[in-house]
Amino acid sequence: ALQRTFSIIKPDATKRNLTGKINALIEDAGLRIIAQKRIHMTKAQAETFYGVHRERPFFNDLVSFMISGPVVVQVLEGEDAIAKYRTVMGATNPANADEGTIRKLFAESIEANSVHGSDAPETAAEEIAYFFAGLELVG
Ligand code: CMP
Repeated sequence: ALQRTFSIIKPDATKRNLTGKINALIEDAGLRIIAQKRIHMTKAQAETFYGVHRERPFFNDLVSFMISGPVVVQVLEGEDAIAKYRTVMGATNPANADEGTIRKLFAESIEANSVHGSDAPETAAEEIAYFFAGLELVG
């Protein structure tokens, strides 16, 4: 079914001017970028966004990394967009990512892994609503 997912191009990627190359991989996979903006997250925004990971040992480092530079937040639309984008991204740890995926091509580490994508329909809806107003989504 036609679905929407939430994406972040992370600071390691924006720093290296990879936004366009990542967007090309997204669009080549048949996903449509129906909303996009470049922001610099505050600590509070990053902590809330990654709230489910609050108890994990990597939480503080992850928040510091996510506010270390600008990010590009996006809404992607397409057939099975959530699973499709996870395939395009590749495994969380770039060492385990398949050839041709964003993380295999560009990620520096499990933390600086270039992109985020929602893992399920409920989280996609929450994550989209956290960063975008309905009127900003132009399908
Ligand atoms: P993301 O999909 O944005 O969701 C949580 C992020 O935590 C993950 O990508 C990684 O960037 C980061 N992270 C850092 N260390 C780990 C780890 N050991 N396991 C999972 N995620 C990690």
